[in-house]
Amino acid sequence: MVNLTRDFFIALSNNQFLNDNAKRWGFRLGAEKFVAGTDLPQAAEKVKELNERGISVTLDNLGEFVNDRAEAEAAKNQILQVIEYIHKERLNGHVSVKLTQVGLDIDKEFCMENMREILTKASEYDIFVNIDMEKYIHYQPTLDIVKELHKDYENVGTVMQTYLYRTLDDLKDLEDVRLRIVKGAYKESEEVAFQEKEDIDSNFMEAVKIRLQGNAFTSIATHDHNLIEKVKKYVEEHQIDKRKFEFQMLYGFRVEMQYALAEEGYNFCTYIPFGDDWYGYFMRRLAERPQNINLVLKDTFYT
Ligand code: FDA
Repeated sequence: MVNLTRDFFIALSNNQFLNDNAKRWGFRLGAEKFVAGTDLPQAAEKVKELNERGISVTLDNLGEFVNDRAEAEAAKNQILQVIEYIHKERLNGHVSVKLTQVGLDIDKEFCMENMREILTKASEYDIFVNIDMEKYIHYQPTLDIVKELHKDYENVGTVMQTYLYRTLDDLKDLEDVRLRIVKGAYKESEEVAFQEKEDIDSNFMEAVKIRLQGNAFTSIATHDHNLIEKVKKYVEEHQIDKRKFEFQMLYGFRVEMQYALAEEGYNFCTYIPFGDDWYGYFMRRLAERPQNINLVLKDTFYT
C-alpha cells in the first residue's frame, strides 16, 4: 500500500501538464506547509526567523521541466537575484540549484555556462552553491559537471543519494567536495538502487561515516530520528569536530526537532523551497510521507 501511494504521488510529480497549470493556480492543496512562499521576499521572512534561531538556510527557487533556452536563462537570472539578495540582506544562507533548471536537458555546455555565471557571482560574495541530485538519468552528467566546475570553483558541491548501489564507490572521487548525504527522493529501478529501507539506511550511515572521517564539509540531510541519533552517537564516540558537518531538514518538516538540534549546538540548515513552480516538489514530499496528506487535507477541508 505504501509503495502504491508513493508511486501514485511520484507519477503526479512527473506530470508536466499539472506542473504547468500549478504555476497559474498559485498555492493550492496545502503546499504552503512545505513551500516558504511564491516569491523571494515571502521566503526571506521565513529565512530571517530561522537565522535568528541560529539556523542557516539553503534557498531553492523551485523549477522543473525546463525545455527551452529562454526558460533556462530566466531560471539562471532568478538564481543570480537570489544570490544578490542573500548578500544584500546579509542572510545566513546559500543556494540549491537543479541542473535541469539551468539547461541540462537542453545542452550540457549551455548548462555549464549558466552554472559558471552563477558560481562566479556566488564566489564574489563567498556564497556556496549546492547542485541538487535528480533522477538517475541525470546522475552521471551531474557528477561530471560538478567535478569539472570544482576545478575552478571551491564554492560548489552536490548531493549523494544512498539508495544507489554505486554511492560509496563514487564518494572516493569526491573527497574534497562539499556534499549533502540523502536517502534519495525519486523512484529508481532495482538495477541501480536499493529498494528496502533497511539497506538504504545502512548505506546512509556508511556514507556519513566515510565523510566524517574525511576533511570536506558534509550536510547530513534526513528527518529520520533513528539515523540522527546514530550520527550523534558516532560523532561523540569518534570525537568528530562539529564544525565538519551540519544536519539539514526540509522547510516545514519536524520543526521542533530542527530547533532542538540547533539548540543542542549542532550546525543546522533548513532547505527552503520557494516560487510558483511548487507542484513537483510538493508531490515528491507527499510520496515520501503519505501521512503529510492528512495534514494537508485537514487544513484544506476543515479550516
Ligand atoms: P524517511 O522519509 O525515510 O523517514 C524515516 C522515518 O523518520 C519515518 O519512518 C518516520 O518514523 C520518521 N519521519 C520522517 N519524516 C517525519 C516527519 N515529518 N514527522 C515525523 N516523523 C518523520 N533527495 C534527492 O534525491 N536529491 C536531493 O538533492 C535531495 N535534497 C534534500 C535536501 C534536504 C535538506 C533533505 C532533508 C532531503 C533531500 N532529499 C533529496 C530528499 C531525500 O532523498 C529523502 O527523500 C527525504 O529526506 C525522505 O527521507 P528521510 O531521510 O527524511 O527519512
